[in-house]
Amino acid sequence: MTSEGLSSSDLQVKRAQSEKPPKGSVIMSGARSTGRYHIGNYFGAIKNWLELQKEYFGFYGVMDWHAMTSSYKTPHDVQHFARDNYAELIAWGLDPEKNVVFIQSRVPEHVELYTFFSMITPLGWLERVPTWKDAEQEAKDNDTHNLGRLGYPALQAADIAIYRATHVPIGHDQVSHLELSREIVRRFNFLYGGSIPEPRPIFTETPTLLGSDGRKMSKSYGNTFYLTQEEDELKQNLRKMPTDPARVRRTDPGEPTKCPVYSYHKLFSKPEDLPWVEEGCRTAGIGCGDCKGKLGENINALVAKPREKKKELLQHADTLDSIIADGCRRARKHARETMEQIKEWTGFLSGSGEF
Ligand code: TRP
Ligand code: SF4
Repeated sequence: MTSEGLSSSDLQVKRAQSEKPPKGSVIMSGARSTGRYHIGNYFGAIKNWLELQKEYFGFYGVMDWHAMTSSYKTPHDVQHFARDNYAELIAWGLDPEKNVVFIQSRVPEHVELYTFFSMITPLGWLERVPTWKDAEQEAKDNDTHNLGRLGYPALQAADIAIYRATHVPIGHDQVSHLELSREIVRRFNFLYGGSIPEPRPIFTETPTLLGSDGRKMSKSYGNTFYLTQEEDELKQNLRKMPTDPARVRRTDPGEPTKCPVYSYHKLFSKPEDLPWVEEGCRTAGIGCGDCKGKLGENINALVAKPREKKKELLQHADTLDSIIADGCRRARKHARETMEQIKEWTGFLSGSGEF
């Protein structure tokens, strides 16, 4: 989901509105389980969650229902990736004991609250969301012009409200979704005298990430740059990566800002490596092979440990299963408390319906 329908001056305002959450804030965020995590998931989400957990208690979700809005034809894959993503989050160091890390479908209260929200959300609000408006033709073309896709932001509102979270780290592509979450919660509180917090955004700068062929990263181009690639897979992907087209021969100088390899260096390499790339490239002092070699080393240094840890988790299925079960059980406890409170406000019979 990309376009957010805001001009750059609007964005400035929105950026300025994102302040440091006060102590005791409750964080909630999530990512869809549509595939293996790629570098966009890392720089756009995971990296920030790892920072936030140092200071705040948070709920972090693997969003498999949200994945189903577009991947409903391959539910087995969605579930496969849910497990894969969960293992990867833990492998990167998201602490499943300090936080609550869950899989969305295993906490059915998300869907229960979503049903409630769907009653109080005017259709016009959903139709005006830019990610719906802008993607409507695309949705028609690929069979995802469905009720679930239209209701996507209402489900997202329920994800946040079910934990009464106060702050949500998101990329700028999610501005309109969070705005809608706030409106739905406000309307809910107004109608029923509730006190669910209106969630505030914590904006994360998401750098533009290119795919391994230098084009925009997209699954349909098959150029996704996965996060925990094996070393040989990584080398192969870097070898394929285009460089400044002006650098035909080793002796031709190049311009790093015209090269996707350099854009990756800026993300993955130590600050002191950048002048080496810039100078070496502009003076033809280094070859593109050297440049990619250094990049490969730096990426590998970042991902090697999580890659091994993830493998280990996936190999010990029982251990992973019990971590997941524990996370979902704890998530459910919080979610049920919210649902009980909501039932009290609205006169619904209490209890979860388990006999
Ligand atoms: N829509 C979000 C995305 O595409 C994923 C998401 C689902 C989410 N539920 C959420 C993010 C709740 C934050 C809070 O990135
Ligand atoms: Fe790109 Fe590096 Fe080659 Fe310069 S030296 S063109 S930055 S790969």
